[in-house]
Amino acid sequence: MAEFDIERFVTLSKAVDLSDIDWAEARRVGITDDEYTVIRFMADIEIHTIIYLRDVLAGHTASNPEVTQFMACWVYEETFHGRALDRFLTEIGRPEPNRFHEIESNYSWREEFTGMLSRGFAFLTPHISAVHMCWGAINELTAAASYLALARRTRNAPLAKLVTKLARDERKHYAFYFSQAEKRLEAWGARRLCEFSIARFWEPVGVGIGDGAANLALATSMLFGDEQGRQEFAAVDQAIQRLPGMGWFKMLSNYRERALVEFARSNPADFARHREADREFAAKKVAA
Ligand SMILES: [Fe+2]
Ligand SMILES: [Fe+2]
Repeated sequence: MAEFDIERFVTLSKAVDLSDIDWAEARRVGITDDEYTVIRFMADIEIHTIIYLRDVLAGHTASNPEVTQFMACWVYEETFHGRALDRFLTEIGRPEPNRFHEIESNYSWREEFTGMLSRGFAFLTPHISAVHMCWGAINELTAAASYLALARRTRNAPLAKLVTKLARDERKHYAFYFSQAEKRLEAWGARRLCEFSIARFWEPVGVGIGDGAANLALATSMLFGDEQGRQEFAAVDQAIQRLPGMGWFKMLSNYRERALVEFARSNPADFARHREADREFAAKKVAA
């Protein structure tokens, strides 16, 4: 991948522009209850970025000026992603109060533990930054894929426009994390630590927030339950496999398979409804 231009990123970084979103049209078309759950969940994750920043910005990772400059802008952009999604819900008449305290207090023990390990290791070895950067690359690319899947599936055109803008930002963030991970994983020790940490501790972003596991399973079934969804997750795996030492990575595809089986078992009616929506979506694509 081409070298990431940090100067350009910092100079151009800004809050997502909502001036061309047609809120009246968004309100007129409305959203489904599933979309509401997924958008709320995505907003929670975005607003939560500041907590991830705390876990990542420590020790050796914090001593790199490129990383700290990027992160200052990154957390700003992600915060505005959360605010944009909250604004969307407010504009269509389903407002959500500021849930930061609720989200923070619902942070799972596992997320707390992983965060503590992350902060502790950050002082012990410079290789931890390779783990942080690889972790970030996985999550940013998954976020971009999720927003694009929502844009593809929703009937609400202003929503599709909004989340496509967010996906564009997530792709930029991914490019930074990937280029940093690529450099840092040249070192044997970094590759070993990265493989161990990701295989042992990585979970899809959002699992540890409130009802994250259930919301994530619903989002996976709704947005990635069809063949195209399978390919989208496989594409994230394949992108990460291109990093040094990450050829083994298949965690998104594995997660998808497990989540779909579990969701079909625990929510059979919703699962069946999503598969019906897949068939309608496929028929519409053929007709178009
Ligand atoms: Fe975001
Ligand atoms: Fe992002």
